[in-house]
Amino acid sequence: MARRSKSSNRWVKRQERDYFARQAKEQGHVSRAHYKLQQIHERFRILKPRARVLELGAAPGGWTNYIEETCSKGMLIAVDPLPVTAGAETAVIEGLAGDVAVVEQIDELVGDDLLDLVLSDMAPNISGVRAVDQARSMDLADVALEACERWLKSGGALVVKAFQGEGLDEWVAELRARFKKVSMTKPKASRSESREVFVVAIGYRR
Ligand SMILES: C[S@@+](CC[C@H](N)C(=O)[O-])C[C@H]1O[C@@H](n2cnc3c(N)ncnc32)[C@H](O)[C@@H]1O
Repeated sequence: MARRSKSSNRWVKRQERDYFARQAKEQGHVSRAHYKLQQIHERFRILKPRARVLELGAAPGGWTNYIEETCSKGMLIAVDPLPVTAGAETAVIEGLAGDVAVVEQIDELVGDDLLDLVLSDMAPNISGVRAVDQARSMDLADVALEACERWLKSGGALVVKAFQGEGLDEWVAELRARFKKVSMTKPKASRSESREVFVVAIGYRR
């Protein structure tokens, strides 16, 4: 039998200890991330029936499944280079958000009927070098903001995962000029040791 590496052993042990990872397993959710979006939604009521939604960084599909349950009869486009567990109605695009081919596919799906909501749980591959990871995470936040400029309708909302650190305050200030209300939140399901936070921006000014 193949032996697990030390870091993979640590990951398995942490998952076993982790309340939300156990809950996700027991309740049949794809990932513990499901609870992060649920908690964000419970606070900000961002998901509405029939909403047209773009989800960036969707794999393995925890958020995707929660959006499918909550925004019934809407439209969901889920983007990730990795496989996403999604329902038959969801348009899954395999690729990197920001790549020309992916942008073209989203253009086609959105057409003239702009979106109600853009969500990004995109995270860079962690290098371990804090400054590099921070810069990569801010680049991904920019990709999400560019998606709003292209496809989000006036009055629409944006949720973005970001890491606390250099560049975030300036980025949030920029967002405040483009949305009516911008908040930062750290749902309970987000690990306390992680620098991850979520920026929730409501009321896009097109
Ligand atoms: C934390 S995971 C997302 C978890 C997901 N929200 C869930 O509920 O299962 C971050 C994801 O971002 C994806 N990602 C990173 N850069 C991306 C990019 N440029 N475009 C699309 N996805 C990206 C990764 O492949 C990874 O699957």
